Amino acid sequence: MITNTELEYKGDLYPTKIIAFEHEVDSICFHTDNSVILKVTVLRDSLIRFRFTTKGYFSNDFSYAVDKSHSHGYNFLEVSEVEDYYQIKTSKVQCRIQKIDMRLSIYDLDENIILEDELGFHWEESYEYGGNIVKMSKASKDGECFYGLGDKATQLNLKGKRLENFATDQYAFQKDQEPLYKVVPFYIGLQNKKSYGIFFDNTFRTYFDFCHERRNVTSFWAEGGEMNYYFIYGPQMQDVVTTYTDLTGKPELPPLWALGYHQCKWSYYPESNLKEVAAKFRQLKIPCDALYLDIDYMEGFRCFTWNKDYFPDPKRMVAELAEDGFKTVVIIDPGIKIDKEYAIYKEALEKDFFCKRADGPYMKGKVWPGECNFPDYTNPAVREWWAGLFKELISEIGVKGVWNDMNEPAVMEVPNKTFPMDVRHDYDGNPCSHRKAHNIYGTQMARATYHGVKRFAYPKRPFVITRSAYAGAQRYTSSWTGDNVATWEHLWIANIQVQRMSISGMGFTGSDIGGFAEQPSGELYARWIQLGVFHPFCRTHSSGDHGDQEPWAFDDEVINITRKFVNLRYQLLPYLYTMFWQYIEEGIPMLKPLVYYDQDDIQTHYRNDEFVFGNQILVCPILEPNSVGRRMYIPRGSWYNYWTNEEVKGGKEIWVDTKFDQIPLFVKAGAIIPKYPVQQYVGELDFDELTLDIYYKAGKEKSVVYEDAQDGYDYKKGRYSFLSFQTTGKEKELIIQLHKEGKYDTNYSKYKINLIGLPFKVNTIEIDNVEVSFDRNTLEREGYLIVDKEFTSLHITGE
Ligand code: GLC
Repeated sequence: MITNTELEYKGDLYPTKIIAFEHEVDSICFHTDNSVILKVTVLRDSLIRFRFTTKGYFSNDFSYAVDKSHSHGYNFLEVSEVEDYYQIKTSKVQCRIQKIDMRLSIYDLDENIILEDELGFHWEESYEYGGNIVKMSKASKDGECFYGLGDKATQLNLKGKRLENFATDQYAFQKDQEPLYKVVPFYIGLQNKKSYGIFFDNTFRTYFDFCHERRNVTSFWAEGGEMNYYFIYGPQMQDVVTTYTDLTGKPELPPLWALGYHQCKWSYYPESNLKEVAAKFRQLKIPCDALYLDIDYMEGFRCFTWNKDYFPDPKRMVAELAEDGFKTVVIIDPGIKIDKEYAIYKEALEKDFFCKRADGPYMKGKVWPGECNFPDYTNPAVREWWAGLFKELISEIGVKGVWNDMNEPAVMEVPNKTFPMDVRHDYDGNPCSHRKAHNIYGTQMARATYHGVKRFAYPKRPFVITRSAYAGAQRYTSSWTGDNVATWEHLWIANIQVQRMSISGMGFTGSDIGGFAEQPSGELYARWIQLGVFHPFCRTHSSGDHGDQEPWAFDDEVINITRKFVNLRYQLLPYLYTMFWQYIEEGIPMLKPLVYYDQDDIQTHYRNDEFVFGNQILVCPILEPNSVGRRMYIPRGSWYNYWTNEEVKGGKEIWVDTKFDQIPLFVKAGAIIPKYPVQQYVGELDFDELTLDIYYKAGKEKSVVYEDAQDGYDYKKGRYSFLSFQTTGKEKELIIQLHKEGKYDTNYSKYKINLIGLPFKVNTIEIDNVEVSFDRNTLEREGYLIVDKEFTSLHITGE
């Protein structure tokens, strides 16, 4: 066995022999000969935190990412000393720490190794900045796979890649380009059918290397701060992701309209132009819930002002749009124009709320308004002030959502595209330089915006979207993937990024549909909308400098495809809302990459394109021009082709024929898919039936439907409706059992039940053990039944 004391690796320093240890409740501290302290904290049986210091003491323990209300507490903890190592055992894992060099290894209870230090913790002193460059390396076995890390524009499985986390305004980024807008230093390892996660909670610039530099080594390091990471044990990836999401926090439910279709462009102005766009959606009957105002609505790009030439009476306009079902969302950037006549600028100056350089002057940089100063959102007083600024926009004008952009923070015309590193930040009472605050800046801006919008939107729910984000930002905001390009490759990237964000805790994400830069062909736009309606956030956006990107900028065929798929999204709203509910309640990602869906099937480990939307719909976009179908992998189990209702057995790659107005879509056998009628916007129609598409399966399957008032907070007081269905299919029988929870009574009174794939002709129907008559003709011709929503068991038998 090698020990660190014998190693000289790049002049790095290593912990030496452990000379003392203390155990206090959930924490165990180990001290080495050379003053390294490792503090191990058992948060849950499968969640352990490791913190290292080389100073002989720990700095103030503070994290923006960790949600203070995360679940805490373990069932079992035992600390023991063996000859060569100390052992910490919980009811899920055992962690061993070598006495000779503090290297650690983690095993499951059957002695299978889950994760093992290679060099383990080591560091390099940073003379220039003080502190350390903190490093960690882990041994990696052949066949190990890696996932997660936020918005990386590269293959889902990160094996062989080196990645950099530094929030960057990366206009027209390319495949594999690094770094991008978001920073989520969380990854999932999968080895030997067992998954674990690592969350390296450090806001400095960080790097991750997944067997790129050395074949059997995974490492991560930061340019400052602490080696502070959380180990999460699965063994199911599901458990890793839900534990991570619980640790860094879950959002509240968005208003249902936020799951509708959104239309954006840089920029819609003046008012007449925005109104034309609105009217055209209604005229063409393409559902739409939100319209966006980009920077040109402002007076000289000054935040919280309006250009009165373009928008003479914003309150009236917003109200008129609202009458037609449109919610108005406006952009707000962090740069505050340096202008002595501008009230917000004057106030921030007076209150001393702008970021300063190390030697005193205000941080000054160019963005859209020209020279700007930038609020220090890491100061709680600044956040409180910022939140208050939304009063007029939200309570008086009636704006429903706010879009935060340029918050990496972006600065124009400078080589590093951002603040100089000497800029000072409050960091909630832990003063630091921009090196430490950079990656968290955007999240703190979105957090302040969220609190403002929420305060003034109350009792309605807020909607916020951000471009930059750090782990935990999901508690406050949705996000989009930034300035992509209208190319086929970017359609591939969008699919990957949104899946990856989904398993990185930040599921409410979408891409600029059609591409932000450059112009999509009609075919590319159609293929993008066909994917985009299956993303939690669904918005078309474009830079507008190449022409229009509304659906009607393309020919009739594309308009019809857009309508067809946006209609489908609106039909699936109860399904989408239910998956959102599972995300906010349990941290379950809304999109599931195939490896997440079935990690035991090694065929899924390198798949990129297919994903499961919610729990029961398999989606595979068409990513190439002139396609008449594609090859794709169908995960194990039995599935129905959504377009043909043909059943296919999974666990294999197949060719799927598709027309231009289709993409491969499959529904899991046994599923019950709830649908609303098509509406032009959320809440447009009152309807008396919830459609349930029931896909027959021999065997059992569970499906759930969550509903509530679609806005407001009554759901937190139990005013929701939760339907849980259990279907049991037999040779000549189908039994549907329904269990209801919650105090919300939905407006509809009936279910319209579509029976799909039934292998027999219906003979009798019993509702709650009473045989009922039914319209045999409709059932045979149209395949549906109408039943009262108040049932607990529906029993269908066949001949
Ligand atoms: C940035 C944003 C983009 C926006 C533009 C103008 O490029 O990413 O979405 O339209 O700025 O505000």
